[in-house]
Amino acid sequence: MSGLEDWTGRVGREWADKADAMDGLLGPVGAAGIDALGDVRGQRVLDLGCGAGDTAFALTVAGAQVTGLDVSGDLLAVARGQDTAQRIEWVHDDAARHEFDVPFDALHSRCGAMFFDAPEQAWGHLHAQMKPGGKLSVTCWREAALNGWVTVPLVAARPVLGKDVTRPPSLSGPGPFGWADPDYFAPLLRDAGWQDVEWQAVDRPARIATGNDPDPVVRAVAFVMRIGTLASRLRQVDPDTRARVAAALTDAFSPLVRDGYVEVPTAGWCITAKA
Ligand SMILES: C[S@@+](CC[C@H](N)C(=O)[O-])C[C@H]1O[C@@H](n2cnc3c(N)ncnc32)[C@H](O)[C@@H]1O
Repeated sequence: MSGLEDWTGRVGREWADKADAMDGLLGPVGAAGIDALGDVRGQRVLDLGCGAGDTAFALTVAGAQVTGLDVSGDLLAVARGQDTAQRIEWVHDDAARHEFDVPFDALHSRCGAMFFDAPEQAWGHLHAQMKPGGKLSVTCWREAALNGWVTVPLVAARPVLGKDVTRPPSLSGPGPFGWADPDYFAPLLRDAGWQDVEWQAVDRPARIATGNDPDPVVRAVAFVMRIGTLASRLRQVDPDTRARVAAALTDAFSPLVRDGYVEVPTAGWCITAKA
C-alpha cells in the first residue's frame, strides 16, 4: 500500500533517487495515455502525480502548457532540475485539495491516479478544476499477476524468502494496483462527475533498470531491490539473505535481456473520460 504519507516520505525519496528508472518501466504503457489526449497544442494540461516530470516534459514538447502537480518534494526537485523545467509550472501539493485559479483543458496522469486515501472526494475535486468537456487520460496498472516487474522478482525470491513474504500485492486500497479493476474505477469516476468513461488494455514490454552498471542484469536487480513490491518486503531482511535474493534475481533476469536491458511484460489500462 502507498498513500499520501508514503509519497511525501520514504517512497517519494526512493523513486526520486531512482528517477532514471521510471520512464523505462512506466513509459510503454504511459505512451498510450499521451496518445489518447490527441493534439494538445495550446491546451492547458494538468499532469497529476507528475513525479520526476517525464510526461510533463513530453506534453510540453507536444505543445501543451503544462502544470505538473505532485505531493513529493523529492520528486519535484528532480523535475525542476531538468533542462526544459522552466517551461512548466510545478506545484507541490496534494492533488485532492489544491485549487487552481484557471481551469484545465485536459487532465493527464501516468500511474499517479490511484494513491488517494479518499478517492471519491479527490476525483470530484479534480473534476472541479476542469473546463466543461475537458479531457481525462489516465494510465494505470492492471492486476499484478499480469505484470512481470512484480511477478518475476517475487517468484524468483520465493525459494529464499518463503511464500508469505513473496505473496502477491493487494489489489484494493491506495497503491499501484488500486485501479486494476474497471468495476472499481469506472463507477468512482462516474460518481465524481466524469462522463464517457472508457478504457483499453495496453500490454507492452518494459525495461527495468537503474544505475550505470554496464551489465543490464545488475541494473535490473538494483531496481527491484529498491523499488516495488519485493523491495518493500526486503526492508527487514539481513544482509546474507539479501545476497541470496540478489543471486536468485540474477538467475531469473539473465534470460530476459533484450537490446541491453532486462525486459518484462507489463499490462495497464488507458482510461479516458470527459469532464
Ligand atoms: C508511480 S509514481 C508516477 C510518477 C509519474 N507520473 C511518472 O509517470 O513518472 C506516482 C506519483 O503520484 C504522486 N502522488 C501520489 N499521491 C499524490 C497526491 N495525493 N497528490 C499529488 N501527487 C500524488 C507521487 O508522489 C508520485 O510522484
